[in-house]
Amino acid sequence: MSDQKTKSATLTIDGESYDLPMYSPSAGPDVVDVRKLYAQAKVFTYDPGFTSTAACDSTITFIDGGKGELLHRGYPIDQLAEKSHYLEVCYLLLYGELPGAKQLEDFESLVTYHTMLHEQMMMFFRGFRRDAHPMAIMTGVVGAMSAFYHDSTDVDDPHEREVATIRLIAKMPTIAALAYKFSIGQPFVYPRNDLDYASNFLRMCFAVPAEDYEVNPILSRAMDRIFTLHADHEQNASTSTVRLASSSGANPFACIAAGIACLWGPAHGGANQACLEMLREIGTADRIPEYIARAKDKSDPFRLMGFGHRVYKNFDPRAKVLKESADEVLELLGIENNPTLQVAKELEKAALADEYFASKKLFPNVDFYSGIILEAMGFPTSMFTPIFAVSRTVGWISQWKEMISDPAMKIGRPRQLYTGETMRDYVDIEKR
Ligand code: CMC
Repeated sequence: MSDQKTKSATLTIDGESYDLPMYSPSAGPDVVDVRKLYAQAKVFTYDPGFTSTAACDSTITFIDGGKGELLHRGYPIDQLAEKSHYLEVCYLLLYGELPGAKQLEDFESLVTYHTMLHEQMMMFFRGFRRDAHPMAIMTGVVGAMSAFYHDSTDVDDPHEREVATIRLIAKMPTIAALAYKFSIGQPFVYPRNDLDYASNFLRMCFAVPAEDYEVNPILSRAMDRIFTLHADHEQNASTSTVRLASSSGANPFACIAAGIACLWGPAHGGANQACLEMLREIGTADRIPEYIARAKDKSDPFRLMGFGHRVYKNFDPRAKVLKESADEVLELLGIENNPTLQVAKELEKAALADEYFASKKLFPNVDFYSGIILEAMGFPTSMFTPIFAVSRTVGWISQWKEMISDPAMKIGRPRQLYTGETMRDYVDIEKR
């Protein structure tokens, strides 16, 4: 915790004043430290949904939602998407600096040589129903890793933490690909050490034993870019879930499984699947006004998927990169005039021109264009969120490592505004 006290705030309750320390971050708004408030004033702060609460210190990722800026260890996401690649960004997130050539080579080799799963774990997949969502399978299988990799579950041992880190980053694409292969009834494809991270994932998803599979470099680059753009996003719901789960000292595999479960929701990572399904349902540009009207109608639960964000009140910088990528990838793949992309672009235009979306500062987010690219690459919608989970694993782990190595870490234990019954006597059943 930063002790750089710069100002203080005064809170007055019933005429009694309490001085609260404040801290200035390297970027972003100042924070008021309320940790001693309950001890001093016997009140809690109230912030369901954490709209105004900084739950931790972090040096990993910074978002300026007003400007639409996303920085990893200070580096803007658009520069990383253009000039870097996923495993280099993983190194940056995990260790704080861009790697030198030898460091990168060693890191890539380490990840590459841990991509295989324990053979007995492969049997787990066969226990699921064929029609299980791959996210359901991933949640189960990643949780089960703690039953297999006992030598990397001691969170107090820095070496074991490092081994768990590499294992999770290396094996997550294998797990996602196996979940996919199982769901379509095809044989499992093992990872190959001569391929880069993205190419290996594509091969594990799309190769079949009956024929040779050449990784298309355009697809591989697009895959890597999607991984890079989703790598981390500071204290989002799934990352906060990982932090909260691990604050009890739970093992990393259990905590990452919790993160995967949280990511699946349609307000979070599940939005990419929901968005493509929505775009397909809209189908043609002439139906856009109907859907815009539904999104604005408070009596209709429908929302424009892939639109809006808790933090961004401007363009999500990841969506900008993905919009360009969608054009590029579709053109390179020779998919001209993709109707879903046309609907997405028209929908974006119509929503941005609409007073409702403008006044609420609702812009396309990362999930708006990613599904179009993934679909063009050959993935079914059910694989969109698993791909997000593969990408975000490094973010979850970086945040977990940061938290767990802080000696001042405490178990996360929010308080509540209790609005239920106060104490009353038990009523015997015949008197109710
Ligand atoms: N369509 C229509 N109205 C919306 C939308 C939307 N997509 N998003 C927000 N609003 C309205 C909402 O009804 C509310 O209106 P009012 O103030 O009149 O009640 C206002 O905008 C603020 O919304 P909120 O739900 O209070 O905002 P939030 O910060 O709690 O929620 C969100 C953020 C991302 C959950 C929300 O914008 C949403 O549900 N978007 C659609 C799902 C989506 O695309 N999720 C992906 C997020 S980015 C990637 C990720 O996190 O994984």
